[in-house]
Amino acid sequence: MLTRDLISVEAGSDPADSRPPDQAPSEFACDLTAALASRPRSISPKYFYDAVGSQLFDRICELPEYYPTRTELRILESNAREIAAQMGPHAEIVEFGAGSLRKVRLLLDAMKQPARYLPIDISAEHLSLSVVALQRDYPGLQVQPVIADYTQRLRLPAPLPGAGRRVGFFPGSTIGNFTPGEALHFLRAAGQELRGGALLLGADLVKDPAVLHAAYNDAQGVTAAFNLNLLARANRELGTRFVLEQFDHSAFYNAPLQRIEMHLVSRLRQTVAFGGASYEFDEGEALHTENSYKFTIAGLHALAQRAGFRPGPVWTDPDRLFSVHWLHAPD
Ligand code: AVI
Repeated sequence: MLTRDLISVEAGSDPADSRPPDQAPSEFACDLTAALASRPRSISPKYFYDAVGSQLFDRICELPEYYPTRTELRILESNAREIAAQMGPHAEIVEFGAGSLRKVRLLLDAMKQPARYLPIDISAEHLSLSVVALQRDYPGLQVQPVIADYTQRLRLPAPLPGAGRRVGFFPGSTIGNFTPGEALHFLRAAGQELRGGALLLGADLVKDPAVLHAAYNDAQGVTAAFNLNLLARANRELGTRFVLEQFDHSAFYNAPLQRIEMHLVSRLRQTVAFGGASYEFDEGEALHTENSYKFTIAGLHALAQRAGFRPGPVWTDPDRLFSVHWLHAPD
């Protein structure tokens, strides 16, 4: 039973305090400190994705309320031939943030002799497992995994001699988790990597807020667990003592900004200790954990054009829930 009293959450033995003097705090520790020290509090959604968080995200993708994954898969499936025709023969696919590699299979199946597949992912372990399975099913395909953070400057291998277009693949509306500035920066950098080729981009569309609300507040509570995993991860990795039961998952549609916002809201007045300092949460005070921007087709085109792309065909589903865009990269 929760009380409404002030509860002190002690940090106990903080790994940040006991580390050797020459060892720098992790990026997560630095970002969490900055988040706790500022008001309003916010932290990058990238910290959702440790092993537990990635598994929870896989479960989200299977939820009846979470339409983006299955809708995008259907769009890719129904239009694979047309998309493959845009790619042309011997194209190379560069996938930004390759996950389970499920979506790219739909493209590979429809393509005419793909020259090479370059999945980029920050997690070597995750990527190598997915690549082994892909190679088993596509023995003739050249796969060159790239272990890198695709939001940072990339140095991709030079195109293979005789290869066709280089096509970037960025599905899942992950672009919606960037700030508008980050999205523009990412697209500009991707445009340079894909010069003369194209980008195939998945973007979630603006729609009835009730549909959005359900997708981020599922009945089984998987999205809530995904959100709360950020605190659980901090407890595991940084030695914080967040009491998960003292925070509520909150997700709502911010219509003027066209985005779902996710927050972790303190259920009571409490103090959290970390790195030798204490931070107070008032009852109802939140840590903002994620934005998931939704797009209109015109809005996405305007963003892509600002980054130097020329909009091409757009594929959507009959209910216009999700969109897949062909964007010509700058020459
Ligand atoms: C990865 N990303 C596109 C998901 C989204 O919908 O913004 C992450 C997610 N957050 C809550 N549910 C799913």
